[in-house]
Amino acid sequence: MYSAITTAIGTLKGPLHGGANEGVIKMLQEIGSLDKVDAWLEDSLANKRKIMGIGHRIYKVLDPRAPHLKRMAQILCEKLGDKKWIQMSERIAETMLAKKNLHANVDFYSATVYYSLGIPTDLFTPIFAIARTSGWTAHVLEQLADNRLIRPQSVYTGPVGLKVVPVDQR
Ligand SMILES: CC(C)(COP(=O)(O)OP(=O)(O)OC[C@H]1O[C@@H](n2cnc3c(N)ncnc32)[C@H](O)[C@@H]1OP(=O)(O)O)[C@@H](O)C(=O)NCCC(=O)NCCS
Repeated sequence: MYSAITTAIGTLKGPLHGGANEGVIKMLQEIGSLDKVDAWLEDSLANKRKIMGIGHRIYKVLDPRAPHLKRMAQILCEKLGDKKWIQMSERIAETMLAKKNLHANVDFYSATVYYSLGIPTDLFTPIFAIARTSGWTAHVLEQLADNRLIRPQSVYTGPVGLKVVPVDQR
């Protein structure tokens, strides 16, 4: 169990994966206000910049978790935070769907939820990881219930017949 959860945390790491929620709030802070969203997005897309919290490797439709977090973000922004974060987020999500057919993912609205709750940005990914341990644990238990070794098959397609060059001659 410890090894599986440790591995899952390592797998979640990375700015385009578990770290995207930090990127979302940094992006919103960089844009600054609702009236600057359109110009910022246009410039970013023209420069092939990735928009944090948008797109998913597997889900090509709306991530089922996103609408729940969106509702939570709306309520929290109204009660505790500043409405501009959710307004900017909604504008970005609408525009990315219309222009690129890409949906907001789970990190997109979770960033505003965490921010409104006063959680420091550096802790966004760890907090998200803590929540995921329940699902990871379920996977571990399922796997253990029918504990067959999983070994992905692969076919080597790289070069063959290469000579080893001694380190001092490289
Ligand atoms: C998650 C991610 C890595 C998936 O990448 P992917 O599988 O290559 O995405 P797709 O195959 O759906 O991409 C289709 C097109 O949309 C573009 N695209 C995908 N996500 C984009 C984003 N966030 N911003 C701008 N363009 C994006 C791709 O560059 C690609 O363009 P191309 O056809 O001109 O090459 C990517 O969407 C991303 O980097 N998102 C931002 C980071 C993020 O929020 N990560 C958390 C995911 S839960």
